Parts: sequence; structure tokens; C-alpha cells
Amino acid sequence: MAVTKDDVLASLARVSCPDGTPLSKSGALSDVLATDGKVFFSITVDAAQVKAWESVRKQAEEVVRAIPGVTSAMVALTAERKGGGAGGAAPARPSPAGGGAGPRPAPRGEATVGVPGVEAIIAVASGKGGVGKSTTAVNLALGLATLGLKVGVLDADIYGPSLPKLLAIKERPQTLGGTRLKPISRYGLTVMSIGFVVDEETPMIWRGPMVISALTQMLREVEWGTLDVMVVDMPPGTGDAQLTMAQQVPLKGAVIVSTPQDLALIDARRGIAMFRRVNVPVLGIVENMSYFQCPECGTRSDIFGHGGARHEAERLGVPFLGEVPLHMAIREKSDAGLPVVATEPDGPHAKAYCEIAARVRDQLKGTARAAPRIVIER
Ligand SMILES: Nc1ncnc2c1ncn2[C@@H]1O[C@H](COP(=O)(O)OP(=O)(O)OP(=O)(O)O)[C@@H](O)[C@H]1O
Ligand SMILES: [Mg+2]
Repeated sequence: MAVTKDDVLASLARVSCPDGTPLSKSGALSDVLATDGKVFFSITVDAAQVKAWESVRKQAEEVVRAIPGVTSAMVALTAERKGGGAGGAAPARPSPAGGGAGPRPAPRGEATVGVPGVEAIIAVASGKGGVGKSTTAVNLALGLATLGLKVGVLDADIYGPSLPKLLAIKERPQTLGGTRLKPISRYGLTVMSIGFVVDEETPMIWRGPMVISALTQMLREVEWGTLDVMVVDMPPGTGDAQLTMAQQVPLKGAVIVSTPQDLALIDARRGIAMFRRVNVPVLGIVENMSYFQCPECGTRSDIFGHGGARHEAERLGVPFLGEVPLHMAIREKSDAGLPVVATEPDGPHAKAYCEIAARVRDQLKGTARAAPRIVIER
């Protein structure tokens, strides 16, 4: 029988808050999402009391997992600063594509700690949505894997996860020992996305702070194993949510994806500025949809004024990592969950991505570990 929200709430009545109130009556619960045996909700508490609530979060997860029919439960603890006083944990808010007013300085926090077993975490980002970040992230990850590296992909786009589609993943991650999630393997990559846990149709009703918590859980409560590189597919924009993510994840570098158009380049600049601001080295720029290659005759047309990103990279003093043409095969394959590097490894597109991957690897070799940065308290 399908697990309902009421089943979950009935179980949560058995969990006590630090002041003794049953969790189900505490007013700290977000809406409870229960789909297909997967349960997700958040508990929002005052930032000053986060530590006292951690055991409540754990218990909540345990009781929900014990409900017959529940296959996985993810409970996020999110901190809210009452009254917005100085020095507190600021909730991240989703920002409109394009980044809105741009990033603000980070609030006080603790040093970012790495993920055990993961050598380097890199972000694939852009200032603007729809420029091909996710497509690049997946194919770059596959390109790095062809170089002999062990590679993972973390889909950090909590509001619009892409990995289920780009890798045609319908299965759910298994839980290990009741507390950790086993990532999914595809084409030799180890991958995790919130989209594996929550259905595509489920409305993304969570509030901003849950993004941070869900991301932290995907990073730290997933059995990533040993990885040379973890590629993080970032959400679009450079607003608070993106900035906070850049701070939450101990990034060794960032790859900026841009199309050649001026507008996208302005956004790319904003993206670069964001990473510089949080001391994350920019590994370089990828020009995506760089030129159009006629599928019939192979003729190349620079419909968008190709080369803008290369010039911009030079101007900004960041490496240019390479260009990927606008090609129907890339779109069709991506959208069908058959990324070109894996499914047409000898084709020209795979070659473009593999060259980019080799440059990224070289950049990583030459990049000292980023200085510790501050992150928002949990
Ligand atoms: N080089 C390319 N040639 C043709 N189509 C492409 C190319 N790169 C990406 N696309 C297509 O463009 C669309 C957007 O790509 P993608 O989802 O990777 O962008 P994104 O920047 O991650 O978007 P969002 O900001 O929504 O996360 C997809 O349909 C994808 O298949
Ligand atoms: Mg994307």
C-alpha cells in the first residue's frame, strides 16, 4: 500500500523535539513529500539550535524508514535566523535565471571540509540558464573517465535536476545501513541527483534553505567511494543559492560554460566573479553551441559569432578549455539519456569533450587546493 503523508506524520508524532513537543506538532516541519515509497521533508529550526536538533532529524529519518512501504527517507535540517540579525546563517534563495542582483558576501560559518575519498571536486557553472551546463558536465565527466580517472557527478540543481534525463536513470538509490545512500552507476560514472529520490512531477515546493541541506546530504551522506574527480552540475545563475553552494562544496575549481553570444558572456563574467569571490580557481571557459555544423554536409557556420568565449577568456586571464558545436546529435543524444562521449566515443563531438577533459585534468594538476573558505552554518 502506498505510504501517505498522514502515515509519515503519525510516525513523527513519536519523535520528540528538544523541548519535548512531538515533532508532528512542532510547527518546524515543511510539507511532507511521499511519493512511491520515497519520503522527503525538512525541519526548519533557529540557527542557534541546530546542534540540539540533529538527533531529532536522525530519529525522524529512522522512524520514517521503519514505516512499511518506505524505501527511502531524506530529512533535511534547515537553519533559519530569527529576525535576520548580523552574523547568522542566511537561507539561500532560489534566484531567477540570470542571477538577479548578484552574489552577496558570505555570512560567518565554519571551514569547508572535503569529502573523504574524493580527490577533487569541480563545479560546472554558468551565469545564465540553458547554455548547456548539464550536457557539458556529463560529457566532461565521461571524458575524464576515458582518461582513466574515477569520476562522479553530483547534480546540484535541486530545483531542476538533469541527471535522471541525461543519463536515463529511473532507478532509485538504495540505502546502505539505513543511513547512507548508494549512488547510481552509469557508463562508469558514479552519480547522484535529488531527481533520483524525488519524482520529476513532484512540485519543487521546498524553500531555499532546504536546497543547502539536501546538497550537503547528497555530498556527505552518499557512499561516493574513491573518486579522482567529482563533477558538480551547478544550478543556473549567480544568486544567493548558487553562491552558497559554491561555499558549501569544497571546490578545487570551476569550469564556466558560455555560449558565444554577448549576453551569455556577460553572465559568464558574473559566474567567474562569483567563484573568484569565494576563492575557487576558475579552471577555464568552455564555449558551447560554439558554431553550427550542418548535419547534412558538415559545413560549419558561425551563427553566433563564434570565438567570443575564447576572447573573453583571454581578456579575463582564465584558460580557454575548448569549444563544442551546436549539433542536433548532441541535443538528441543528451535528451535521450545517451551522452555522446559514451555512445559515440569515436565521433567528433566526443573528441571535443575529451579534449576539454584533458585540459581540465591538466588545469587540476596545476591548481593548488583552494584556500579554506567559509560556509553557512548548519
Ligand atoms: N552543443 C550542443 N548542441 C546542441 N544542443 C545542445 C548542446 N549543448 C546543450 N544542448 C541542448 O540544450 C538544452 C539545454 O542544455 P542543458 O540542460 O545542458 O543546459 P543547462 O545550462 O544545464 O540548463 P539549466 O540552466 O536549465 O540547468 C538541452 O536540450 C541540450 O540537449
Ligand atoms: Mg542544467
